[in-house]
Amino acid sequence: MSRSIASVVGFTVFLMGLPGVSLAAAQTAKSPSSVKKLNPRLTMQPFGKTHDGREVDLYTLTNQNGMAVGIMNYGGVIVTLKAPDRHGKFEDVVLGYDKLDPYLGKNPYFGALVGRYANRIGGAKFTLDGKEYHLPKNDGPNCLHGGINNFSKQVWAVKPSPTEAKIELQYVSADGEEGFPGKMTATVTYSLDDKNELRIDYAAVSDKPTVVNLTNHSYFNLAGQGNGTILNHLLTIYGSKTTPVDATLIPTGELKPVAGTPFDFTKPTRIGERINADDQQLKFGRGYDHNWVLDHSGSLSLAARAEDPGSGRVLEVLTDQPGVQFYTGNFLDGTDHGKGGKVYQQRYGFCLETQHFPDSPNKPSFPSVVLRPGGHYHTTTVFRFSAK
Ligand code: BGC
Repeated sequence: MSRSIASVVGFTVFLMGLPGVSLAAAQTAKSPSSVKKLNPRLTMQPFGKTHDGREVDLYTLTNQNGMAVGIMNYGGVIVTLKAPDRHGKFEDVVLGYDKLDPYLGKNPYFGALVGRYANRIGGAKFTLDGKEYHLPKNDGPNCLHGGINNFSKQVWAVKPSPTEAKIELQYVSADGEEGFPGKMTATVTYSLDDKNELRIDYAAVSDKPTVVNLTNHSYFNLAGQGNGTILNHLLTIYGSKTTPVDATLIPTGELKPVAGTPFDFTKPTRIGERINADDQQLKFGRGYDHNWVLDHSGSLSLAARAEDPGSGRVLEVLTDQPGVQFYTGNFLDGTDHGKGGKVYQQRYGFCLETQHFPDSPNKPSFPSVVLRPGGHYHTTTVFRFSAK
């Protein structure tokens, strides 16, 4: 496949695929405004610069129904996601910031691509093929979301599609980065179709044995970002067990049936219904911050469904991954000033992070997260939007 390389607004862009797409064609995208049309379903615009002066761009994927998803190549973050309610009224349903700057500092992983290992690794260490690896302790005694300089803190190379609402992001993580072995190349493709499905394909290869667990950390509020808590949303999780945790949120190794507990979301249930129940697991998490073991057989299928009764907006999450972390924004506390000046209080958003189980590198009984040279990590998650 031939690849044209074009430098547009100072950032190197790799135009995807088609032999006929030339530098000149890419530059005709220039318009008086800073928004460049790359194809009828895709635009790009400058979004700011990193502290070391690298340009970051925001790509907007649109579909025939008017949905629009803004994704930047810093951290592969979903910055905006406009979805219609039952009357066709659009709201931005993900939490985030208007500008690049707050994303550069410490923030709750709003919309980010998380890696190399999403979620926690207990004691910030693991043993692979007899060798012990040490990771940053950035969450008490544990390593959370791949360490300090994790994938959400990187500028990813971009290959926009010349014809579709689709971008491919790539990041090469050096051998030993954040303590993980192996040079790992991660490729993540976001695409939006006319069925209102935002599809995320994750792929990775490594030159040495390593561990990998990639996810997206969007915080959703189907009533619109900043418009109150998510406690009235109705949630279904297609998983009949969880992986209970200790006080530092590391799984004990047990798989616990949800039946008869506040973790039973096998039927649509208000998120707030039992969130304050007298339950040790909920106390450890300050709410829901747990991994569900999905019931599906491993092919792309429904993991969860959330519905906002007020607006009618529905989000269905499909994945081929074995687990999903349901997190209710328990650590949001009003210090984050989000888009349009909205203040994000506790439980103003929820995450459904499709993934392998937390601490799998230290849990031989959990599905393996080991990636070896010659092996291909490939997984898909779909966020499907509708209204009723
Ligand atoms: C974790 C939470 C954490 C949040 C933001 C979630 O995936 O489970 O404990 O606070 O990410 O880092």
